[in-house]
Amino acid sequence: MPELQIVRTVADLRVAVAHYRRSGASVGLVPTMGALHDGHLTLVRSAKLDNARVIATIFVNPKQFGPTEDLARYPRDEAADVAMLKELGTDLLFTPDVGEMYPDGFSTSILVGGLTQHLEGISRPHFFTGVATVVTKLLLQALPDRAYFGEKDFQQLQVVRRMVRDLNIPVAIVPIPTIREADGLAMSSRNRYLSPAQRKIASALPQIMHETVAELRTGLAAAPILAGAKGRLHQAGFDRVDYLELCDETTLQPVPLARTPSRVFVAAYVGATRLIDNWPVI
Ligand code: PAF
Repeated sequence: MPELQIVRTVADLRVAVAHYRRSGASVGLVPTMGALHDGHLTLVRSAKLDNARVIATIFVNPKQFGPTEDLARYPRDEAADVAMLKELGTDLLFTPDVGEMYPDGFSTSILVGGLTQHLEGISRPHFFTGVATVVTKLLLQALPDRAYFGEKDFQQLQVVRRMVRDLNIPVAIVPIPTIREADGLAMSSRNRYLSPAQRKIASALPQIMHETVAELRTGLAAAPILAGAKGRLHQAGFDRVDYLELCDETTLQPVPLARTPSRVFVAAYVGATRLIDNWPVI
């Protein structure tokens, strides 16, 4: 099996990256919070195709969890993650602890305006500042040529793109389409929380969204279509729908009907598990 170098400090990461650079290698970065699944592995595979060297990061970032969220029980399985990364020929895993990322006295954060005010930003007000801060740090620590983000977290992808543009961070952000289970449910580390009965309920989400996208593509007003879809989600056993909206793909602002490139965005709870997803309409 190929060698996977595991480093836990920024100093060691910089030594390894400097070595890659001296040999003229291009570098791809795949930031993750671990509990890897095929969605993450697809990011790594894409990074392998585009770059001579691939760095994966695993860091469960406390700054992107709210006080009532699942930080303590977020799934962690370094041994399984390492085995998968090795198998794919990843060159390096950077997995710092919280003290390495946020030493005593850490007091800087990156706030991306506008794009973060809506959708996830409403129910999770600190989330994007936590993501933007940690992603900025990871990009500056590794200084990759390219960094890979899944479209499953489409708002996160747009926030990262805006931040990289606004701060002139010299990296190309590469979007990767969502990887789905056979029934269409988007792969997510949080799917592990679902009991078999809840997993069955969750499978209604891609089905209902598939129908909803078809209805939205007719160009009719979105509001009644979305209200109908919300009702069907409740009937299927979803406990709460946080949001279900048609939004412009670039501004992420709600639109009354699908005329410009737009996506339908959803966040809904099965029991205590919050699932998010999005589908392109046009
Ligand atoms: O999408 C994730 O797993 C995280 O939000 C990220 C980008 C690794 C930042 O912690």
